[in-house]
Amino acid sequence: MTFDIVTIFPAMIERPLATGILGRAIDRGTLDVKVRDLRDFTTDRHRVVDDVPYGGGPGMVMKAEPILDALDAIRAGAPGARRVLLSPRGAVFTHARAVALAAEQDLVLVCGRYEGVDERVRHFVDEELSIGDYVLSGGEAAALVVAETVTRLQPGALGDAGAPTRDSFFRGLLEHPQYTRPEVFQGWGVPDVLRSGDHALIERWKRLMSVWRTWQRRRELLETADLSPEEQKWVDGFRQGRTPDDYLAQGRATHEPGVGPPIQ
Ligand code: ADE
Repeated sequence: MTFDIVTIFPAMIERPLATGILGRAIDRGTLDVKVRDLRDFTTDRHRVVDDVPYGGGPGMVMKAEPILDALDAIRAGAPGARRVLLSPRGAVFTHARAVALAAEQDLVLVCGRYEGVDERVRHFVDEELSIGDYVLSGGEAAALVVAETVTRLQPGALGDAGAPTRDSFFRGLLEHPQYTRPEVFQGWGVPDVLRSGDHALIERWKRLMSVWRTWQRRRELLETADLSPEEQKWVDGFRQGRTPDDYLAQGRATHEPGVGPPIQ
């Protein structure tokens, strides 16, 4: 897969790219990223990328021309690339959008800055994405979010190939709680079931806690989540006031007072 990232701050992109999953994919040759300095696509001596807004108002607006020149230059190397403009006005980036973008061969990520981007740029991109309902100073951090999310969905990008299928949101659910050593930390223990060695029970506990977490924190996700009949039964039970303890085998407690943490 290739990413072309268009920005006026290449340094904001280059270092994070060289690190972690993105860096590893680049080293392995499964990902190729080109960071394009928007100022390289200006034609004036001062390399100006912004101008005052028509109609007045505070701040500056990014000019359309350098952006289109950058898109044209990129098209020469990646003719079918999907073009994404990062902006707080875009559709919200979700796991589903990430899966769709991960199927592309080439992606162009255009980072906006200042008060906005000349509206006419929108005629030359395929979509506009926001990473959430808040305003960043520019699209660079958003482009990194999209790049990392899409990269980790590529086959083999993570050490354990099965890992993305267990991530939060893969089935529209939040992930179950995780623990590692020590067994007791500051008086808080680990749920018994995770130390039971009973793999079927552990798997069921993980699914139950995943559904419970989602019920407690992001209830709206359950309306569209991909649930098995048993999981749907749990949701129906939670709606009637039941808790995970009601579903654990032989009434096995998920925590012991003073040892295990209350399940949240
Ligand atoms: N640029 C500024 N804010 C943004 C956001 N929330 N998402 C994407 N790009 C942005």
